[in-house]
Formats: sequence, structure tokens, C-alpha cells
Amino acid sequence: MKFTLIFINVLFTLHSITTYSLPFVVFHGIADKCSNGGITHFTELLSNWSGSSGHCIEIGNGEWDSWFMPFPKQIDIACQKLKKMSELSEGYNIIGLSQGNMVGRGVIEFCDDGPPVRNLISLAGPHAGIASIPFCGSGIWCILEDSLLKLAIYSNFIQAHLAPAGYIKIPTDIANYRKGCKFLPVLNNEVHRNSTYKKRFASLENLILIMFEKDEILVPKQTSWFGYYPDGSFSTVLPAQKTKLYTEDWIGLRMLDEAGKVKLLKVCGSHLEISTSEMKKNILPYLLDDVSTTVTQSRSSSLFWPSSFNDGVVEEEILLLNPNQLA
Ligand SMILES: *[C@@H]1O[C@H](CO)[C@@H](O)[C@H](O)[C@H]1NC(C)=O
Ligand SMILES: *[C@@H]1O[C@H](CO)[C@@H](O)[C@H](O)[C@H]1NC(C)=O
Repeated sequence: MKFTLIFINVLFTLHSITTYSLPFVVFHGIADKCSNGGITHFTELLSNWSGSSGHCIEIGNGEWDSWFMPFPKQIDIACQKLKKMSELSEGYNIIGLSQGNMVGRGVIEFCDDGPPVRNLISLAGPHAGIASIPFCGSGIWCILEDSLLKLAIYSNFIQAHLAPAGYIKIPTDIANYRKGCKFLPVLNNEVHRNSTYKKRFASLENLILIMFEKDEILVPKQTSWFGYYPDGSFSTVLPAQKTKLYTEDWIGLRMLDEAGKVKLLKVCGSHLEISTSEMKKNILPYLLDDVSTTVTQSRSSSLFWPSSFNDGVVEEEILLLNPNQLA
């Protein structure tokens, strides 16, 4: 009899952990795809450490569509997929890698009746825009893109056929940006203010913004923290708190910040180059948020505590999540 009771207790603990351990989804960056080794490994490591299920959400065929499918369509596809995943219905966390943050934030703000997003963990997100063409290599598409972009980034044609054009914000061409750019001004409530988008973004429990110190892909790298050039000039980079997006609180960033929900973190690598110890320090805690109380209770048995936490020896490894492998 006693044995049965203990057994039931253990089962109960296991059950409640399963219930509270929030799943997470990953949105990869440009020119990448979920089936690439780097992304698979990244997702699996975080999933193993946190004990929560992690899924990379693919949009179209990944590589190609990340370049050429405009964001409203990418976000719509992601939104439909997420709504079909019943395990997300109690809430989930989003990890955005570089351009994947545009999709992640789009899901948060635009996905009607989608499952609730608790934390957004953003690695190198171009949140306030970028002022140069993202590095892409010397392939035919890159050269074509480069010359087309120089001609007319904000034309309807480019906006409809080249995803990154949706978040290129040339500080010396703000009038055309506001008129022609079809995506970022909407996402950031920059021209028209939609209170629904703001309400949804401000409902995050944690907004984790990770900047890569040697980032040369995002210009300026401070865009990862919502910092940007002032309108009309390349001369300085304003910290987020000095931008109008923040002071006029277009999307609830200020609200989140004043509630202590924004964490500005920094890692030392180049674009999307991150070590396992940096992942454990900067990402993992926010995947464990809802788990921590339950796990602490059952910790004496150390049954469910991910084993890597207790390892004396840390096997350090550097992950390169930038498929262009720009060192
Ligand atoms: C994650 O855990 C599984 C099961 O223990 C293991 O097979 C796999 O190698 C682990 N993955 C990583 C990246 O450590
Ligand atoms: C804001 O967005 C919501 C959700 O997409 C939409 O239903 C609503 O009409 C929009 N409101 C305005 C003022 O544009």
C-alpha cells in the first residue's frame, strides 16, 4: 500500500512537470532551413537541457522562401501551423534567429486566435530595421539582389518579391521607407498605430534581446536591442530608450521595459555565433521559467533535473547558426 502511494506521488510530479514545461518553437534566419545541422543541433540541445519540446517551424522550403516570400505570407503560414499544434495551446516560447525574429514578432502581433506566446527570446533580431543589404555571398541571386536593391528597395515589385526589403530602413530615405516599405513600419506601428498589435506585444512575460558584439551582418548591430540611427543621419546610433518607438511607445516596448520584462543581453561572437555556455546563460533560463517551481520541489530526488546541470565538466562548443558562414 505504501509503495503504491509513493508510486502515485512520483507519477503526479512527473505529470505536473510535463504540464508546466512549456514547449518552444524556433524560427531560423535567412538562407537557412530547419533540416540544416546547425538548427537541428541548436534546437535539440535546448530541448535536452530544458526538458521541454522544441520545434523548428519551417516556412515553405526554408532557404528559398526565406529570401523571396514576403513576410505577411511567411507569417500567415507560421500562424496556421502553430494553431494546428495542440501542445502549444497552453502557451509557448519563441526563439527567433536573426530574420526569424520578423516572423516571430509577426506571429505575436498578427496571428489572430493563435496560441499565447509567453517569452520571446531574440538572437540578433533586426527589430528596428537594418541599413544595409544583408550579406549573402557571391551567388547569382545575391548579385542580382544587390543591384536590384540599389535601384528601388521600396518599389512595389521589390517589396513583393524580396523578404529582407521588408525591414531595410535607410535612415537617409525615411520618406520613401514610410511610404513604400510594406512590412517593418506595420510591425513597429510606425505609420498607423494598431492598438491590437501593441496589446499583443506588450503581453509578453519576458522579452530577451540578445546582441552579438561582433555582428557585422546587422547594421547597426544595436538593432538587436531596438537601437537605431536617428531619421536623416548615419552619424550616431540611438539606444532604444532614445527612439520614438520607445518614447511614444508604439508597440509596448516601453511598457514591457518599465515592468522589468525586457532583458538586454550581449554575447561576444559574430552574427549568430554562440557558445553552449552562452546558450545556457542567456537562453535556457527563459525556457525553464514555468518549470522552475515544480522542478525545485522534486529536486531532492534529482529525477527530472536535466543532467547537464550537474555535470562538473562542461563540454564547450561553438554553434554557428549563420548558414553563410561569414566568420
Ligand atoms: C539529446 O538527447 C538525446 C536523448 O538522450 C540524445 O540522443 C541526443 O544526442 C541529445 N542531443 C544533443 C544535441 O545533445
Ligand atoms: C488592427 O489589427 C487587428 C488585427 O489584425 C484588426 O482586426 C483591426 O482592424 C486593426 N485595427 C486598425 C485600426 O487598423
